[in-house]
Amino acid sequence: MKVFVAGATGAIGIRVVPALVQKGHQVIGVTRTPAKAEQLRQLGAEPVVVDALDEVGVKDAVAAAAPEVVVHQLTAIPHTIDPRTLDRQFAETNRLRTEGTDHLLEAARSAGVRRFVAQSFAMWVYARAGGPVKAENDEIGTDPPASVRETLEGILHVERALAGAPDIEGVALRYGMFYGPGTSIGTSGSIVEMVRKRRFPIVGRGSGVWSFIHVDDAAAATVAAIEGGDPGIYNVADDEPAPVATWVPDLADAIGAPPPRRVPVWLARVVVGATGIAMMTEVRGASNAKAKRELGWQLRFASWRQGFRSGLG
Ligand SMILES: NC(=O)c1ccc[n+]([C@@H]2O[C@H](COP(=O)([O-])OP(=O)(O)OC[C@H]3O[C@@H](n4cnc5c(N)ncnc54)[C@H](OP(=O)(O)O)[C@@H]3O)[C@@H](O)[C@H]2O)c1
Repeated sequence: MKVFVAGATGAIGIRVVPALVQKGHQVIGVTRTPAKAEQLRQLGAEPVVVDALDEVGVKDAVAAAAPEVVVHQLTAIPHTIDPRTLDRQFAETNRLRTEGTDHLLEAARSAGVRRFVAQSFAMWVYARAGGPVKAENDEIGTDPPASVRETLEGILHVERALAGAPDIEGVALRYGMFYGPGTSIGTSGSIVEMVRKRRFPIVGRGSGVWSFIHVDDAAAATVAAIEGGDPGIYNVADDEPAPVATWVPDLADAIGAPPPRRVPVWLARVVVGATGIAMMTEVRGASNAKAKRELGWQLRFASWRQGFRSGLG
């Protein structure tokens, strides 16, 4: 198959490209950075240098490639995130998820592309109420903390645009929190460094439930979704959604750091704001049952418990 990967050099793209090449697919990899074109060539892809916010450039690139599948992994996420100003830090990512999605989808449509696979994110999508682990058809959150409103809108824009595209098979992958090489929970990643320095405390009861996914497993699910499965939404997360009070001490142990501090909610609110409090105490995890069942996807790290010990570097 001919596959056009936008965001081919990002945390997931860089793994999806060689995996597709290895399976015999022809890959066109997009970067906006000329210096990264050679890196993509070495991975076996044909590089295309274009800015995803350049509507005409994107249309021309997709038309010239004439792919069967388009993959949207465009983000511009800082490596360290301050939850108090999350929307500001995600401003470019949000443009890539709104305007970028629209340009790419329109380009795909006019080039007769059959399938469109895009990145979504589980943590902010689900309502922060009810059971601790959510399936794809569970309720969407309608009351995000103020500093994450635009970011949630961006994520939902991607999902709605795909669902509303009757002439294309739209697949949105609600990834869990990435860990592994090149991520904030990788060797020298920002969260790992904070945990090492005891600057990532458990807030309140630490009851926020996080779903994780190793970047290799996220890439494998992405390849599976490129190759098959019904259109729709899939959670891409590991088998063990876990409360902050469980995974932070375990991460500390895995990297040889002292146990995390505990901080009451009222005190933490000053430092991390409402969004940080929601992440620490309210967010819900994501069930991977549908992706495993329908995409035939198998995980290398079924739980972050193994992944934090042998998959960070
Ligand atoms: N689910 C999750 O937990 C999740 C999801 C995504 C990212 N993250 C985290 O965010 C951090 C950074 O992510 P990342 O490694 O994927 O890198 P990134 O810097 O966010 O870039 C991702 C990709 O988007 C491309 N891109 C960005 N703006 C573009 C534009 N205007 N036109 C064309 N392409 C554009 C980049 O291309 P270039 O080659 O030009 O740079 C790159 O290929 C990492 O810590 C990662 O773990 C987490």
